[in-house]
Amino acid sequence: MRKTGEHDAPRGLYIVLISVHGLIRGQELELGRDADTGGQTKYVVELARALAEHPDVERVDLLTRQVRDPKVSSDYAEPLEAIAERAFIVRLPCGPRRYLRKEVLWPYLDCFADHALRHVRSVGLLPDAVHGHYADAGYVAVRLSNLLGVPMVQTGHSLGRVKRERLREKGLKEGDIESRYNIARRIEAEEESLSHAAMVIASTQQEVEEQYALYDHYRPERMVVIPPGTDLARFHPPRRGDRPGAIKADLDRFLAYPDKPIVLALSRPDERKNIPTLVRAYAEHPRLRERANLVIVAGNRDDIRSMDKGAREVLTEILMLIDRYDLYGNVAFPKQHAPDDVPELYRLVTRSRGVFVNPALTEPFGLTLIEAAASGAPIVATHDGGPRDIVRHCRNGVLVDPLDAVAMAEAIDGVLADRSRWRQMSENGLKGVQQHYAWRGHAEKYLRRVRALRREVARKRRGQQRLSGKLAQADRAIVTDIDNTLLGDRAGLRLLLQQLKERGRGVAFGIATGRRIDSAIEVLREWGVPMPDVLISSVGSEIHYGPEITEDGGWARHIDHRWNPSRLSELLLALPGVELQPAIDQRRFKLSFFVDPEQAPTLEEIERLLRQNDLSANLIASHDRYLDLLPVRASKGFAVRYFADKWGIPIEQVLVAGDSGNDEDMLRGSTLGVVVGNHHAELERLRGFRRVHFAAATHAGGIAEALEHYDFFGACRVPD
Ligand code: GLC
Ligand code: MG
Repeated sequence: MRKTGEHDAPRGLYIVLISVHGLIRGQELELGRDADTGGQTKYVVELARALAEHPDVERVDLLTRQVRDPKVSSDYAEPLEAIAERAFIVRLPCGPRRYLRKEVLWPYLDCFADHALRHVRSVGLLPDAVHGHYADAGYVAVRLSNLLGVPMVQTGHSLGRVKRERLREKGLKEGDIESRYNIARRIEAEEESLSHAAMVIASTQQEVEEQYALYDHYRPERMVVIPPGTDLARFHPPRRGDRPGAIKADLDRFLAYPDKPIVLALSRPDERKNIPTLVRAYAEHPRLRERANLVIVAGNRDDIRSMDKGAREVLTEILMLIDRYDLYGNVAFPKQHAPDDVPELYRLVTRSRGVFVNPALTEPFGLTLIEAAASGAPIVATHDGGPRDIVRHCRNGVLVDPLDAVAMAEAIDGVLADRSRWRQMSENGLKGVQQHYAWRGHAEKYLRRVRALRREVARKRRGQQRLSGKLAQADRAIVTDIDNTLLGDRAGLRLLLQQLKERGRGVAFGIATGRRIDSAIEVLREWGVPMPDVLISSVGSEIHYGPEITEDGGWARHIDHRWNPSRLSELLLALPGVELQPAIDQRRFKLSFFVDPEQAPTLEEIERLLRQNDLSANLIASHDRYLDLLPVRASKGFAVRYFADKWGIPIEQVLVAGDSGNDEDMLRGSTLGVVVGNHHAELERLRGFRRVHFAAATHAGGIAEALEHYDFFGACRVPD
């Protein structure tokens, strides 16, 4: 493939981040506007900036979906937005222009991936990592990293298997879960991402053990825990001379002795956050009550009676406890606070030499604890995943059993009672956050890993040949399957060849077949087809160029990746209804079987079996009876893209034609597709795709029809 600078002196790192859904821009993120614009959006923008700030980085692109919709800001239609000196948001078309929820984006991701490839080529640097965020971007990243032959990184953000469990627990029906959330599709993409990624980044160890571990492709050795950074410009300790913010006066209204240390809890009024236990702990511990004030900031409220049931119950219980224990003058429980009060609340804890408490029943991450630490406040927190990591890294507090009110009170009192211990914890927290929970530190760790991946890639590439510029003239191409597509009808073939001869200057002509190279050449000769410029054979696992039939050695090296044919065939042959095809059809990168659909397990079952055995392969079924296994980077679709990319032919100007299952993946995406009239039923699933023309004519006649349909020799595009 054309890889700029590959053999030159080491240049800066180029990182491509992909986050497809939601609304992403450089400033004023609309977090919480809808279910798709939230934590992940903030995460990817901050990550892009943090990486770009590192001196080793040359460029960071954050690829996302372009949205043109009067319902949202026109910012989201801008194709390019610079968000830092070397960081850009790049918005690429993905299906309809309007804003769509993430669950319905699946059919458009192949095109998105093709646009992504085109973008990367226009930049002219080879990425050192392609990093998918969430399942949808993972799907794209698998394709892009395969096409470029560069390592993939994945971050799930949240996982389908976990979500499905939660929905089931809530009592949702399987069918509803599927129709609303498209979960099976999502999980499939997650499995595929995990199997391809050279590294998977999680925020906490618990996320790794309890969530990623549910996946077939979970590999502990590829998991890397790097927590996201905190915004340290916003969360910082009190500075000499700063006046306390407006919220202070608000709290003081509640408190008889407002200058006592503050014990602060800050969370949504959610049952899981377990605030009442903290109130009880405080109330029943006379020394703690004497020593400190309790401040509870549990969201905003107007009239509790009109709130939803969960919040109403929590808030009411807190009020009842205040009353029952007569905590008036000891507890501040403000009705309202603004987002800008939050950093100040933590600073008030530090100023007053107090403690921040997170008593939640479970806490996978614990962002508030990190914010508190960044503000200099020691913490007492529930003994669960996130807090465990935080206290291990920072040594800035104490972990407690969230159900043990007495122990909780003791722990808080213990921190408050010992001044030097308090100071130590406060300082440790500040230092620990800089080191472990700041974006700068995150970028450091991240890039250290990416550099290691780069060295590995360089080792593998050494010795790769430079390629000649033979096909360099072509600006469009036709790549067609042979059996039942190009061949099968003499009259249609004659028509097609005639057109190619008359108008085919500047057009590369190629075939993509399941046949071996020699048998392909033979049958083309029999039918009088001139030697193609490119021959993709053995279902995409080999590429040759005419007229000398020169093999593309780069392709073979590119796809030689996680390929273990002997174990694969051993596994497959143990299955009922699966038989090896004759030896002549087995190739170095193609293992072919006959399957009896009545007896053999389904494709999904076979895929699952491979995963469980730690094997990977691209499974391609055709005509209800053929099953080909190829390396994960090989298929007709991948080969067509590799070829187009290498010769600088825009993928949007590659017309591809096919009739059966092994043609499917070259028909998806941004190519100009044609399914001939005599196609096998398995291609029916491509109906409705704008870039796939279902020809009325059969065989080569169908291809000729498509030339017309796309005005291939002229404007060469999809008709409106
Ligand atoms: C061709 C190949 C065979 C393969 C089939 C489907 O018939 O000879 O090995 O399984 O195409 O791709
Ligand atoms: Mg065919």
